[in-house]
This record gives sequence, structure tokens and C-alpha cells, in this order.
Amino acid sequence: MGAAATVRRAALADIDALLKLEALFPSDQMSRRSLRGFVANPRADFLVAETGGRVLGNLLLLSRAGSRTARIYSVMVDPWARGLGLAQQLVAAAEAAARRRHCTSIALEVRADNIPARRLYEKLGYTVDRELPAYYDDSADGLRLKRRLEPDDG
Ligand SMILES: CC(C)(COP(=O)(O)OP(=O)(O)OC[C@H]1O[C@@H](n2cnc3c(N)ncnc32)[C@H](O)[C@@H]1OP(=O)(O)O)[C@@H](O)C(=O)NCCC(=O)NCCS
Repeated sequence: MGAAATVRRAALADIDALLKLEALFPSDQMSRRSLRGFVANPRADFLVAETGGRVLGNLLLLSRAGSRTARIYSVMVDPWARGLGLAQQLVAAAEAAARRRHCTSIALEVRADNIPARRLYEKLGYTVDRELPAYYDDSADGLRLKRRLEPDDG
């Protein structure tokens, strides 16, 4: 913890930096077109964490009309900037954004074998809502995690 990072909404000017970050995770890579779409999507909170003007992490939160559960669609941090609390800052900002959208909970899916991500969410109060056997393309198991957002917490 303790990196002097700023978390803010992603802008079109961030797309090149976001593509570089995406390129580090080829299996899940988003295209320039979908990144632009999420920056402009009124139901998306696309957040970036930057330090010294460098984008080192991002998180995409999606909410649907008529649903009080927002979904963290993706979160990633540059391998060189891990362990500094950036993901934790991004998730806290996503929770604040979800509250502003009057959501009462946040859900997400994670690979069961993704220990760093599971520990991150466990630390932040997320619990297993459902097991998702063979959920991923390579048949890996998934977990649906959820956290209730109390109106007055955070
Ligand atoms: C998961 C990920 C986003 C964590 O980012 P990060 O900025 O390094 O995480 P933070 O520094 O904010 O860590 C917060 C907490 O998460 C847990 N955590 C993070 N990395 C961990 C690791 N390698 N092993 C165990 N726990 C870990 C710890 O509880 C940590 O708190 P602590 O530092 O007090 O112990 C990052 O590893 C990543 O980008 N992974 C690849 C993409 C991915 O898997 N995304 C999640 C898909 S759902």
C-alpha cells in the first residue's frame, strides 16, 4: 500500500496507454474499438490509476438499467506496479462510483486459480456468491464474488 497514485475516469487520450496495458494480457485483450466504446459508455465507469502521469492500472465497472448490482468487468495492474495498493484503490473508487449509481452491491467473476485477485477481493470484503464450474473458455472453474455496499460505508 501507499503508492501516490491518482484514480480518475479514463479519457480518449488514455487509449494508447490502455492498449499497452491490455497487450500484457493477450488472453483477455480489448481492442481499441471496445476501449473507446467503454470510455464513451454512459453505463460504464472506466477508471485508471496513474502515477507520475503514467497509466499503471485500470478497472471497468458496468451497471445495467434496472439492476442494483454493478459488475466489475475487469481490473488489471501493470506487473511492475503490483503490490503497491493500486488495485485496492481502483476497487475503492469503483465502489464509490457504484454507490453514486445507487447500486447496493457489486459482483464479479474470477478464475478460481487466480490467487492474487481472490486475496484482493477477500481483503476488501467480497465473498463467494456462487461457484461457476468450467466457466472459462479453457474449462477453468470460476467464482462469482459479491459484496453488499452499505449506504453509509466508505
Ligand atoms: C490482481 C491484481 C489486479 C492485483 O493488483 P495489485 O495492484 O498488485 O494489488 P494491490 O497491491 O492493491 O493488493 C491489494 C491486496 O490484494 C492481495 N494481493 C495482491 N497481489 C497478491 C499476490 N500476488 N498474492 C497474494 N495476495 C495478493 C493482498 O491481499 C493485497 O493486500 P496487502 O498488500 O495488504 O497484502 C494484479 O495482480 C493483476 O493485474 N493481475 C492480472 C489481472 C487479473 O488477474 N485481474 C483480476 C481478474 S478478476
